[in-house]
Amino acid sequence: MIKHSIGIFISGRGSNLNSIIKACKKDDFPGEIKIVFSNNENATGLKIAKENNLKVITLDYNNFKNTEEYEERIIELLKPYNLQLICLAGYMKILSKKIIDNFPNKILNIHPSLLPKYKGLNTHRRVLENNETKTGCTVHYVNQEMDGGKIILQKEVNINSEDTERSIAMKVLREEHIIYPKAIKLVLTK
Ligand code: GRF
Repeated sequence: MIKHSIGIFISGRGSNLNSIIKACKKDDFPGEIKIVFSNNENATGLKIAKENNLKVITLDYNNFKNTEEYEERIIELLKPYNLQLICLAGYMKILSKKIIDNFPNKILNIHPSLLPKYKGLNTHRRVLENNETKTGCTVHYVNQEMDGGKIILQKEVNINSEDTERSIAMKVLREEHIIYPKAIKLVLTK
């Protein structure tokens, strides 16, 4: 199986990174992580990357004048890896046109709601406040509209009366770890 080159962007915990690392180890998975990028040098996910001998690049936004210059530098640093896919996995900076245009239809994101509902932050809190009976997670292409790109895969999760923000987060995250590798496989074998 051809292993396409993947870059993962993280800002924090890195549990989705971990699930993608596991998937990449399987012979029938069409991707291989070439680089893990983070805007946050203290992201705990970077430990996971290093434990798995993955290359890591961190770049502090505060050392740049603006998003344009920041992303220009990211693009330059990523060039040698010839990435076929970039997967945002808890990457907390919004990408601008610069980087999106440089990787057309090659950037994916995972979001903890059933898009197009509950774009943005604090999805589980808002879901509870609205007495929803189900929520879930979505893998989608990244375009310039936040959490607005074409949907690739979704998984529903039921909400019961005992659920809290925390318990919903756990249930949804469990499904994220399943659908993100699935969606990557779908995209890379298309
Ligand atoms: C996940 O809930 C994902 O849906 C959202 O950010 C969180 C990242 O978690 N985009 P982790 O860093 O992968 O553990």
